[in-house]
Amino acid sequence: MTGMAAGRAGLLVLALAFLQACGGSEPADEAGSAPATETLLAEAQELTIDASSFGCLAEMTQIRHFFVDNLLGDVAATVAVAESTEGGVYPPGSVVQLVPTEVMVKHPSGYSPATRDWEFFELGVTAEGTSITMRGSVDVVNRFGGNCLDCHIKAEPQFDLICELDHGCDPIPVTREQIAAVQAADPRCME
Ligand code: HEC
Repeated sequence: MTGMAAGRAGLLVLALAFLQACGGSEPADEAGSAPATETLLAEAQELTIDASSFGCLAEMTQIRHFFVDNLLGDVAATVAVAESTEGGVYPPGSVVQLVPTEVMVKHPSGYSPATRDWEFFELGVTAEGTSITMRGSVDVVNRFGGNCLDCHIKAEPQFDLICELDHGCDPIPVTREQIAAVQAADPRCME
């Protein structure tokens, strides 16, 4: 953190101090900060993600059959890319989920060129909340032993590792109806 502060604008340093001071204490607080702060956070070079970054799918923004959010506040920019049929590069902070237990989060540039700065997560979800089972760039596997990146890297380049059904990834043996049922059964939404 200290190294990166050198040479950056003073306002960004303030934004980072804010991020550090507030990080991890309040589960649902990330989405509620003021727009000016969000703009600054979007320029930060590191993104702090923990179990409290994730929650009930139904509280995210639904795009067709999947859900998005943005941990740095710029949900509109994430939604714009997700809605585009031409693809696009997801902005830092973007969260993308198809099922409650698997997540992709976009880091600021430089996190991992091999994954185009996506971090993959395998989550544990219960009525009590979220836990992170596994996270990282190239080594994360889902509970069926499938490596996230191996599949998602096959998406055509303009889709930024997002598979859907027709972006060039190998198919998964789960129908959209089954996915919808799993989405609706997210235990974190049943309070
Ligand atoms: C066997 C290949 C395969 C593996 C392994 C895999 N995925 Fe996927 N994933 C897909 C396909 C195909 C879709 C699109 C399914 C659909 O739209 O019905 C998808 C959809 C998604 C989506 C919704 C956005 C999109 O790309 O359409 C996310 C987020 C996601 N997967 C995350 C993960 C994470 C995290 C892991 C590892 C923990 C993982 N996936 C492992 C093939 C895979």
